Amino acid sequence: MTDFLRRVRSGDPRLRVALALDLPDAAAALDMVDQMGDQLRIAKVGLQLFVAEGPPFVRELRQREIEVFLDLKLHDIPNTMAHTVESMAGLDVAITTVHAAAGRRAIEATAERCRRVGGPLILAVTVLTSFDDAEYSRVVGHTCDTAREVPRLGGQAWDAGADGLVTSPREVEGLRKELGSDPLLVVPGVRPTGSEAADQRRVATPAAALAAGADLLVIGRPLTQAPDPADALARILDEMRGAS
Ligand code: C5P
Repeated sequence: MTDFLRRVRSGDPRLRVALALDLPDAAAALDMVDQMGDQLRIAKVGLQLFVAEGPPFVRELRQREIEVFLDLKLHDIPNTMAHTVESMAGLDVAITTVHAAAGRRAIEATAERCRRVGGPLILAVTVLTSFDDAEYSRVVGHTCDTAREVPRLGGQAWDAGADGLVTSPREVEGLRKELGSDPLLVVPGVRPTGSEAADQRRVATPAAALAAGADLLVIGRPLTQAPDPADALARILDEMRGAS
């Protein structure tokens, strides 16, 4: 078990929430981070912010001792993916993401390079939580049941050396049964009771996601668009303490 995974599983709920900083620029994102105070331990930086602000923003978060989940969802040829994670090693990023659909060779090459150069943990994204079965079936061109597709793609990625998976709360329980306790299972599509699902389709509450076996919850808009983001995070952390 890696040091990061050990800390996620240490029982501190702050290490089980990654705040999705889906915000336009560093000023807005750092304002959000600062509002959260020491309740926040892990921030997820996605493409929007990374394209706008790049490595200096990641270094800024590391200076504040925030763990960085750099969510770039790589989906490319093995050589390009392996070199990309090698470049991340110097940024001291804890986690990054690849698409499981990039395939076995790409994930093997990426995971192997990460281990060699001290890069981030690799999580494979199975089926995006914004898809329901009908829309995903249209994408792949035949009737496709996400409940079957997620374990199929997830199992392949795990066998290829990924450290864990990003998956919807609804598929976590099945993945735990199939893959055991070792993979780091990270769950977006988390919606506290009463908050908007927005574009997410396969959603669950924080307590339900933890009960199903998730290690880390990715939460964006229910926090960033709350009237009082720090209070919204405090309530989620309380719900998580009650659930565990
Ligand atoms: O605002 P919300 O809580 O829906 O944010 C969820 C975050 O998780 C977004 O940053 C999104 O890119 C990410 N994500 C996701 N579904 C996946 C993988 C990542 O929603 N399968």
